[in-house]
Amino acid sequence: MPGYELIGKEEKEQLIDIFETSNGVLFPHGFDNLRNGRYRVREFENEFSRKFNCQYTQAVTSGTVAQLVAMLAMGVKAGDEVITQAHTFVATVESILAIGAIPVIVNVDDTYNMDPLEFENAITANTKLIVPVHMLGNPASMNEIMGIANKYKIPVLEDGCEALGATYNGKYVGTIGDAGIFSLDFAKTITTGEGGLIVTGNQSIYKYAKEYHDHGHESNPAFPRGRDTRSIAGMNYRMTEMQGGVGIAQLKRLDFIVKKSKEHKSFLKQNIDKNKISYRKITDEIGDLGDTLIFNFEQAKFAEKFLNGYKTAGYSTKNIPDAIDWHFAGTWNHMFTNVKAYRDNWKTQWHRTAKLLNRSIAIPIYVNTTQPELNKQLDTINLLMQTI
Ligand SMILES: Cc1ncc(COP(=O)(O)O)c(C=O)c1O
Repeated sequence: MPGYELIGKEEKEQLIDIFETSNGVLFPHGFDNLRNGRYRVREFENEFSRKFNCQYTQAVTSGTVAQLVAMLAMGVKAGDEVITQAHTFVATVESILAIGAIPVIVNVDDTYNMDPLEFENAITANTKLIVPVHMLGNPASMNEIMGIANKYKIPVLEDGCEALGATYNGKYVGTIGDAGIFSLDFAKTITTGEGGLIVTGNQSIYKYAKEYHDHGHESNPAFPRGRDTRSIAGMNYRMTEMQGGVGIAQLKRLDFIVKKSKEHKSFLKQNIDKNKISYRKITDEIGDLGDTLIFNFEQAKFAEKFLNGYKTAGYSTKNIPDAIDWHFAGTWNHMFTNVKAYRDNWKTQWHRTAKLLNRSIAIPIYVNTTQPELNKQLDTINLLMQTI
């Protein structure tokens, strides 16, 4: 599943190196005499851009903030409508609300990602941005989404937080739209403990994000940092050198993490007794990250029965249903007090998504699982299938 399974020697060496070669400079800028030329956050950003074949990468403190800063950089203002989906993490809607923008939340389809038809139907004259979310490793239907977004000239901000390393038509998710975001929290494909990234090929989005996340600093080479120029007010969402160093080490593990996830997922997917279930529709079989296996039963009661047995056997699920309250808009009454469209009907608004999620089980796929452990897991699942 995530980078936390593989965090160890190389990450530790990166941290020690900050103290041994850079006198413990943890700040990403300045202190030129002390740091001996090493800027680890910048190195991490450059390595990420190279690996992801994108022009610009801006590191920030979390995926939530990455979305906030990216949306501001893309011109989203209070009162603008931002279209996103009902199956996502709370952060997607939280950062829209933090700007005072209006979330327009549509159902997901059998990909468990945004239904492109619902996206098109939700477009109004006030639509400023669309945020498709690549949930649980499966890329969103980007051909369709980009087609509609281009037709109506709506900028696309991809949320790749749960799919760092997945590809769609050969491109890393996050690098298909106008900008993309990633999370590096402790449960993600690679981790810096907390952390986030904004990627874009658009120079003006990058410039705004770079300045905004650093109090407006333009990092003007003609001036020392204390006399730096600025033209916008910002905030402090800077990543530390410790996170940058760990990020460099984690990024080197990405290919291995993705390879192992795909292998382990494919073993389970091929061998699970499929009589009673349907698998989630995968939009790009080659590009799927492989960190989650989702299937659904015809009725919610079968999913419930499976879940009870699965938990009794000592296993857990990923988001669906274990953390569903944090990943389905139909449970977020606390968020919609000021959102007229959902304030009174948040419970019944996304019936189609609720019906799908209630019948579903998401199995986390781990990188470090051994073949005997996978065999045991498979036997458990197939025995439970017989009881349904
Ligand atoms: C889809 C999605 N978007 C955004 C975030 C926010 O990322 P972070 O935890 O780094 O703030 C997450 C984290 O779980 C996520 O899953």
